[in-house]
Amino acid sequence: MNIVILTGAGISAESGVPTFRGPDGLWEGHRVEDVATPEAFERDPQLVHQFYNGRRAKLLDGTIHPNPAHKALARLAMLRAHRVTLVSQNIDDLHERGGSPAVLHMHGELLKSRCTECESVAVCREDLSRASICGACGGIDCLRPHVVWFGEMPFFLDEIAAAISTADLFVAIGTSGLVYPAAGFVSLARDAGARTLEINLEASAASGVFHESRRGKAGDLVPEWVEEMTR
Ligand code: OAD
Repeated sequence: MNIVILTGAGISAESGVPTFRGPDGLWEGHRVEDVATPEAFERDPQLVHQFYNGRRAKLLDGTIHPNPAHKALARLAMLRAHRVTLVSQNIDDLHERGGSPAVLHMHGELLKSRCTECESVAVCREDLSRASICGACGGIDCLRPHVVWFGEMPFFLDEIAAAISTADLFVAIGTSGLVYPAAGFVSLARDAGARTLEINLEASAASGVFHESRRGKAGDLVPEWVEEMTR
């Protein structure tokens, strides 16, 4: 079976990464337009660097680990009983740490930087600042987080569309269904003839579009679903 899985912040919530729109939502205290737009980075690069430096440091401080949902998805891919395409809106590396062999990070990766001069992408586990130097071109004050900001084009859209066009099953896990284009994938999948399943703590903006919605914690429901798929 061809399976396309889309994950969102909810899959990492039980690992201690705050979701965006929950009560302790990440944007609280930060206006989106102050920290997650190209204009914000033009206006105040240091503030934007500080915001992502904080998130990166937290991801690496040793308290955040993949949870049973990340590990179950890795198991599903590794068993090779199905062809799995894992698409994540998350910029954390918990799918990789959980053992997933390939992840399409459509909103980028917190642990990578990108040079605005030479476009090279590099692993980044340290703080970024205006004094950071690009290892590829030697430029100064040209590195940015390799993440997608509001108003920018997500990554891997062609690969994702191709995978959805041949999907037999589309599964969305822990995403509010509010941010496009990801929120539209379920409709594309349905149009392509796939069955669609949502696993989310509560009803999402897209719940009505899915054939089936399961409500509960990803850490409980995803291993259960993977068990069903591998029986
Ligand atoms: P949201 O914070 O919008 O939604 C998270 C969803 O996960 C909510 O519907 C919660 O009910 C659900 N949830 C919370 N805890 C859960 C758990 N333990 N198990 C299962 N579900 C749980 O996050 P996203 O939908 O990922 O984009 O947000 C999409 C995009 O909006 C992000 O990638 C980010 C943001 O703006 C960019 O930064 C470009």
